Amino acid sequence: MKRKTFYFAAILLCFLVTFRLSAQNAKLTLNLNKSGAKVSPTLYGLMTEEINHSYDGGLYAELIRNRVFKDNMETPEAWSVVQEGGGKGTIMLMGANELNVPMEQQRNAINDALTVCLRLVVEKGDGRVGIANEGYWGIPVKPQTTYQASFYAKGTDEAAGPLNVSIESNDGTVTYASGQVTLDKGPWKKYRVSLTTTAGIKPTAAGRFVISTKRPGSYYFNLVSLFPPTYHNRPNGNRIDLMQMMADMKPTFLRFPGGNFLEGDYFSTRFPWKSTLGPLEQRPGHPGCWGYRASDGIGLLEFLEWCEDLKIEPLLAVYAGYSLKGDYVYPGPLLKPYIEDALNEIEYVTGSVKTKWGAKRAEDGHPAPFKLSYVEIGNEDWFDRSPSYDGRFNQFRNAIKARYPQILCISTISEEQKGKVTTGDVPSMIDEHYYRSAWQMEEDADHYDKYNRATSPKIFVGEWATREGVPTTNMNAALGDAAWMTGMERNADLVLKSCYAPLFVNVNPKTGTLPRAWQWGSDLIGYNAITSYGSPSYYVQKMFNTYLGSQVIPVAGTNIPVKRATKQDSTNRRAIPKKATIPTLFYVATKNTKGGAVYLKVVNTSDKAQAVTITLNGATGVAAEGTMVTLKGDKPDDTNTIDEPEKIIPVTSKIKDISKTFTQNFAPYSVNVIQMYTRP
Ligand code: AHR
Repeated sequence: MKRKTFYFAAILLCFLVTFRLSAQNAKLTLNLNKSGAKVSPTLYGLMTEEINHSYDGGLYAELIRNRVFKDNMETPEAWSVVQEGGGKGTIMLMGANELNVPMEQQRNAINDALTVCLRLVVEKGDGRVGIANEGYWGIPVKPQTTYQASFYAKGTDEAAGPLNVSIESNDGTVTYASGQVTLDKGPWKKYRVSLTTTAGIKPTAAGRFVISTKRPGSYYFNLVSLFPPTYHNRPNGNRIDLMQMMADMKPTFLRFPGGNFLEGDYFSTRFPWKSTLGPLEQRPGHPGCWGYRASDGIGLLEFLEWCEDLKIEPLLAVYAGYSLKGDYVYPGPLLKPYIEDALNEIEYVTGSVKTKWGAKRAEDGHPAPFKLSYVEIGNEDWFDRSPSYDGRFNQFRNAIKARYPQILCISTISEEQKGKVTTGDVPSMIDEHYYRSAWQMEEDADHYDKYNRATSPKIFVGEWATREGVPTTNMNAALGDAAWMTGMERNADLVLKSCYAPLFVNVNPKTGTLPRAWQWGSDLIGYNAITSYGSPSYYVQKMFNTYLGSQVIPVAGTNIPVKRATKQDSTNRRAIPKKATIPTLFYVATKNTKGGAVYLKVVNTSDKAQAVTITLNGATGVAAEGTMVTLKGDKPDDTNTIDEPEKIIPVTSKIKDISKTFTQNFAPYSVNVIQMYTRP
């Protein structure tokens, strides 16, 4: 054959093959007769820390911002003076006023934790004068709701008498609920009152909390608190809507208290678990690492009770001698106090009431110990270039193993995360974090297919997210998430645990002098004071967790169309694509070994609907009827917002024609789960 003719024939053949292939459906063959990986029963969990007002102004139901007046030592942040109808007054922060004087003799300190208070001086009581708190971007007002208000107060003798307590509109013209307490003469005393709103109120976040009087005098306030009803009616509890959203995700564990929040910027600002225990009166709060102070109203016991409420296991991260700004403790004798502290913390969680810290837990109201299988030693220690982590990890692990042989220790470095691996025994798990673009998630969805089972430690993907969409993620992120999750799920014998981060975001924008509520864009669940919503990524989490079998079914995919990186992908400097083309379909299948349920997850990242031929190899029988759950967007940047919370939600439909080989259509930009039943 002449050279020219040969080239022509070759081009024609390529064209025909390409044309034929593209004209054919993609094919997924589920090999039910072959055994894939056993799925870790704790594959999907939750990760949490105080970021984006996740707790204060978020999950923690407390409505009063700056309740112990320590958020800003210059000014009573979130507080203002109310002066009406000729009433005149001023407010001012007051510290514990004398140094070297025992606390009980200091006029303004209630104890070592409550050392700053707010003073209201009422000069003229012709009208109402008082203090108002604006809450976390508003006090939420709902109809027929009872709020529990409490505060410490004292006053000069002429101040004694009734104090009005109310929830009202920001301008004070509408009172939604009110009550009264009688201020006694004498020292600090705690006052409590219930406030109930009437029916027929339109829910609003434009409320404020006010304590007021018409009598001149000096008034002092501290630990001012207002709680709406909480999840499971727990005192000092959590927001009902956000707890329910987590419960709906069907998680199996909670990683806490961080993240960076565990480490703190410095040693002195690490998560101070001991001062987060006991009555609120004992909790001074501490500087967080995300630009605002943490009240520590969600303290160590509240984290554990949060797990209890969701019926999940805690995964406790202990401070391991490294803080965000680079301070580290050299392994050896200097590290010992930190190790002792971690052992005590574990004792608080797991010890019997006969142990010192177990007894403290009982005193705090929870005699029963909590189950704790895993302890993570530090957070993201690949940032510690010293390189002290190897020594720190091994010293912590040896001490934990010696006292709690049943507890498995998680290391925070791996080669994957540009850290070295630790020496000594292979860690029980290694925590790897991935924050990426959708393209990066999709091109690396086979990441764990490539891990060597014989040499790799088990993996905990302790933080990960597709970072597209602000402040909550969009549909493109959800597609990237779902593609990535197919890979984790297919390798769920290796990846034993995973959790998305960050979980929560208060979506309030900058308003007046208040900064915007969030620090990290791309989060899972958004809210303001009154309402909440799930991002498309949230629904992907829910779908993947809900429909999960106990064993992976090997799936062969053929004729899968590919896509090219877009200009936008290539210009995103933080996320340059490594591959020129990637598949547009991602998939994973699992089955329940009992009952015959099969779950096939298919992600279509393409802008076109795709018809896929599905073959159930090795099934002797197939039920014709099944269900399909679909999450889809019209375009990649479609999203949910606080004003349009349900633009993208999963829709369940019936499939009636399932057989050993059948064709199913998958919408453009969609994440799908097919639930079907087969007989082996
Ligand atoms: O999830 C936000 C932050 O990302 C975490 O605090 C930290 O561990 C990671 O760098």
